[in-house]
Amino acid sequence: LFSLLNYFVHSTSQNLNCNMKKILISTGGGDCPGLNAVIRGVVKAARNEGGFEVWGSKEAMNGIFSEPPDLVRLTKKKTAGIHVKGGTILKTTNRANPLEFQVIQEDGSIIKIDRLQELVDRIKALGFDALINIGGDGSQRISQALSEKGLPVVGVPKTIDNDLSATDLTFGFSTAVQIATDCFDKLVTTAESHHRVMIMEVMGRDAGWIALHTAVAGGAEICIIPEIPYKVDSILKKINKRYHKGRGFINIVIAEGAKPKGGKVVGKRAKEGSDEHIKLGGIGNYLRMQLEEKGCKAQIRTTILGHIQRGGTPVAFDRILATAMGVKAFELVKEEAFGRMVSFRNNQIESVPLEAAVKENKFVSQNHYFVKKDREIGIFFGD
Ligand code: F6P
Repeated sequence: LFSLLNYFVHSTSQNLNCNMKKILISTGGGDCPGLNAVIRGVVKAARNEGGFEVWGSKEAMNGIFSEPPDLVRLTKKKTAGIHVKGGTILKTTNRANPLEFQVIQEDGSIIKIDRLQELVDRIKALGFDALINIGGDGSQRISQALSEKGLPVVGVPKTIDNDLSATDLTFGFSTAVQIATDCFDKLVTTAESHHRVMIMEVMGRDAGWIALHTAVAGGAEICIIPEIPYKVDSILKKINKRYHKGRGFINIVIAEGAKPKGGKVVGKRAKEGSDEHIKLGGIGNYLRMQLEEKGCKAQIRTTILGHIQRGGTPVAFDRILATAMGVKAFELVKEEAFGRMVSFRNNQIESVPLEAAVKENKFVSQNHYFVKKDREIGIFFGD
């Protein structure tokens, strides 16, 4: 079977040049502005170097598991100009984890099976010399597991949440902050006109980076992040202080993973048997309800931004960062420096061992200079 698969991929191109090295790219987990710029960066660098051909697996690892494999040759034509486009031309899924691959049984129930070794065997049988796996913490854990099985892997970090500890920034984050800030600006003018309290809920999972940056950029009065559990009484006090004779307005940014002191996050449980995260969302409305119950006199409105933050065109910085990361990923392949993840630290594009990259997530510390400086300009954290 594998020799047949091999033939399928090799037949059109590799037969022309047996010395060509083959790189496979996969984009896994949630999408993120900048993924296409990474793909283009790899393809351009590989073309420039010569001796490499680049392929993409459709829908993360599903492309490899498909019969026949669902792969696409990433040519100059296929990748020209894609750095401007959001999403991923390869498509993505968070349901193709080879360590816990979901299989639907005849009775509709789901079982999870370990297909890691099979994935390694398939990638090798298809004649690939290296895998560039672009994804967040979950995807990089898969990279690490594949690397431990002997597959030559290079990871490229991706997430709008910016919560990977091995890199100062991930592409997609700046775009998400820009989108959130644009939306925030719009809410400010309507808050001001109606003397309202506007609560804007942003993404970020358990990390408050998007909220923190949006609060500074937008000029929020209150910023609520998961790392600093809030007290509703303190928030109400702050609101009342800003309102004179019923007039005033307040704009609050709240991260989806925020929670009241001693309370829980708001979200829906992932489906039984699913390997998806708990879907966070709704804390903005919960805070509104709490404030109303406590007797807040001002009118309160909530806006949940949701996936808008992940869509559309990447901002210039994310295109630049993603392109540089793509080029670096190719360089690591060329140097056969496998088992590493590209990272951006101290204004340099470098790399770290995958093992270190997946060790821990990066959260906002109470002592982070942004938190300190924000407090100095009067942003209240609800504590
Ligand atoms: O990790 C990125 C992210 O957008 C989080 O901020 C958010 O909680 C989650 O993904 C949403 O996931 P999904 O696209 O599966 O709903």
